[in-house]
Amino acid sequence: MSDTFLPQVVDTLRVVSLRCVECSALYPGIEVGQPPRYRCDCGSVLDVEMALPPSGVQASSRQHSLSPFLDSSRDIALSDGVKWRQLFDERAAKPPIWSMDTGTSLLDHSGVWRYRELILPVPEEYIVSRPEGNTNLYPVGMENCGSGRAGHRQIGLYAGLEQFYLKHEGENPTGSFKDRGMTVGVTMAQVLGAQAVACASTGNTSASLASYAAQAGLRAIVFLPAGNVAGGKLAQTVAYGAQTIQIQGDFDDAMRLVEQICGERGIYLLNSLNPFRVEGQKAIGFELLQQLDWQAPDWLVLPAGNLGNTSAIGKAFRQAYQYGITGHLPRIASIQAAGANPFYRSYRQNFARRETTQAHTIASAIKIGNPVSYTRARRVIEESDGIVEEVTDEEILAAKAVIDRSGIGCEPASAATLAGVRKLVANGIIKRDDRVVGILTGNLLKDSTTAMSQQSNAVVIEATLDAVRKALDVQL
Ligand code: F0G
Repeated sequence: MSDTFLPQVVDTLRVVSLRCVECSALYPGIEVGQPPRYRCDCGSVLDVEMALPPSGVQASSRQHSLSPFLDSSRDIALSDGVKWRQLFDERAAKPPIWSMDTGTSLLDHSGVWRYRELILPVPEEYIVSRPEGNTNLYPVGMENCGSGRAGHRQIGLYAGLEQFYLKHEGENPTGSFKDRGMTVGVTMAQVLGAQAVACASTGNTSASLASYAAQAGLRAIVFLPAGNVAGGKLAQTVAYGAQTIQIQGDFDDAMRLVEQICGERGIYLLNSLNPFRVEGQKAIGFELLQQLDWQAPDWLVLPAGNLGNTSAIGKAFRQAYQYGITGHLPRIASIQAAGANPFYRSYRQNFARRETTQAHTIASAIKIGNPVSYTRARRVIEESDGIVEEVTDEEILAAKAVIDRSGIGCEPASAATLAGVRKLVANGIIKRDDRVVGILTGNLLKDSTTAMSQQSNAVVIEATLDAVRKALDVQL
């Protein structure tokens, strides 16, 4: 890592600190001449804290470091939710750029950097963005799905919900929500002058890291659990040029090893242990609030593995509420696979103990037994009056078939969302008329093997009209 930073970088990042989620110790966001910090001295994980100036964000001021981001003469008091909403709505309203040249700013067009004051203040020239985000929020409830969506309504019927939306994070550039964290993580790698970046992954983080590292011209190294990564994810990772190291072990082994080797070799670690990645993933929360005209839903439901996303979306809602951007905090429901359920088991004991497990599930993306962001996510569940639920592999596959057949489609882990919603509605925890947003985390094509094994309606026939007629007479 660089021993010297440009004064502009030091200035902009001076407002950023890292706070231990366990013992509250505080560290600077960057320390000149020191390796990057991912953990507190007590061993726990860190959370980014931004000391926004008490008077708010003033573009005209030269005293603090958010000014490079802001439109001239913009002056927003921190808790002035109306002005924040106006700012973000103006940026979202700008027409898309069809032809991009190197001089064009992409920041307003990214579903992450549009919210940059609440994500990370860094000089624009360091930002590595595709751009990402801007994913659809599909109305799929029995009431709100509207005309022309008979297929989507099947999802609402299956869930038992009138007002239901699915936000498809599989529509990000590499097909998963990981791009939102990775744009910020790789940007930090640039700021720090890193030569190489690495992660352990069940596949989506590795695909995303490989893509963003390639864009930035950085060396990428990924540690994968051998034999447990879906084909589409592995293909992306290899094709984008990352060095792929398959470990004879599970994700938790890969995670332990990558953390050690990054420290030893000075490689920048880009798992969600890296607090800056979590900041990027917050944008899922901001964007869905904006798509709902800043009216927070009653519930937000998502699949949970390493717990980075639960932590990030929960933090986004907390900040949106604190800054007056939205009027109330949604309740968060994290859904785990029953065979990979350490967070669920801990929740069932009122979080009295942290649990670990030997994970087994068809949803390989969330096959994780020792989640890194446990403490962050626990805070989110507690403060949002949230809930942790588990669903079986059978329930996941049944829900996936409903999402796939509706024409939307997703990878298996994402379907835990719908399986969880259905269970929570059936148990009366989510009410039939609650407004619910579910997150679909990954694209159907990530795991085509599971998708193919679920449907058997593909036939090969002779090239004759007669054979075609016979094939069409078979009822699906
Ligand atoms: N859904 C998908 C498709 C994922 O890839 C992941 C995590 C999750 C849900 C769970 O999110 O870990 O933040 O609780 N995938 C990581 C990876 C572990 O390596 O791609 P989480």
